[in-house]
Amino acid sequence: MPTTPIVPYSGSDASKKDQVATMFNNISFRYDILNRLLSFGIDIWWRKKAVAQLREVNPDLLLDIATGTADLAIEALSLRPGKIIGIDISEGMLEIGRKKLIQRGLQEKIELLTGDSEKLRFPDNHFDAVMVSFGVRNFENLETGLAEIHRVLKPGGKLMILEFSKPKNIIIKVLYNFYNQTLLPAAGRLISGDTAAYSYLPASVEAFPEGDSFLKILTSQGFGRAKALPLTFGISSIYTGYK
Ligand SMILES: C[S@@+](CC[C@H](N)C(=O)[O-])C[C@H]1O[C@@H](n2cnc3c(N)ncnc32)[C@H](O)[C@@H]1O
Repeated sequence: MPTTPIVPYSGSDASKKDQVATMFNNISFRYDILNRLLSFGIDIWWRKKAVAQLREVNPDLLLDIATGTADLAIEALSLRPGKIIGIDISEGMLEIGRKKLIQRGLQEKIELLTGDSEKLRFPDNHFDAVMVSFGVRNFENLETGLAEIHRVLKPGGKLMILEFSKPKNIIIKVLYNFYNQTLLPAAGRLISGDTAAYSYLPASVEAFPEGDSFLKILTSQGFGRAKALPLTFGISSIYTGYK
């Protein structure tokens, strides 16, 4: 039986993609500050650890899918690539990202483009590495997005995905559930002004495949040597695979 997709605005008739774009447009101006506050700053360390997974392929041309405000792309400059392209469906998020790049003088190294992960406007076998942080959970069609990533990766190229998962330890789980169901939606609502966004976040994490289930999906889309690395009690995980 097909399951109902988890969407930000459950009363809306719009597609998941349109709802996700609207939601990120709504919260874009507070997205970075909310990330720092709601993760107690751990998201910075998660992105560093995630980017480090790509060091061994020494990428020259990198694609950051669902780049948002470009934090992962900026972190990936530590790999010294020739160029990073970031794509996203939310103009609001890209606008904040572009301002950040101008402030830091990084516009030559990182280019931000409007684009959908499920219809990538790049040729086959184009990128040395592709990365996605906290993006795949929001895709309307996960398999299509992963198949597109596989298409644009060069043979031997590496994919890195950073995504929320769920803690296994029972004590951490209780604290995590309490936080996700009470503090996080309330703080998110108050600071971003969007009543749905920070309730969608834990609901979408709950419904999203993780660990071995996610690795099976990666393998089914053609990625080899797929691996998972849980971080911080399994609250998030890094997944990697090769074309
Ligand atoms: C939680 S944010 C993550 C942003 C950034 N990667 C980070 O680590 O902060 C998720 C982003 O995914 C984007 N997104 C969702 N579905 C997408 C799709 N199909 N194609 C491209 N971007 C998408 C959203 O617009 C949003 O900016």
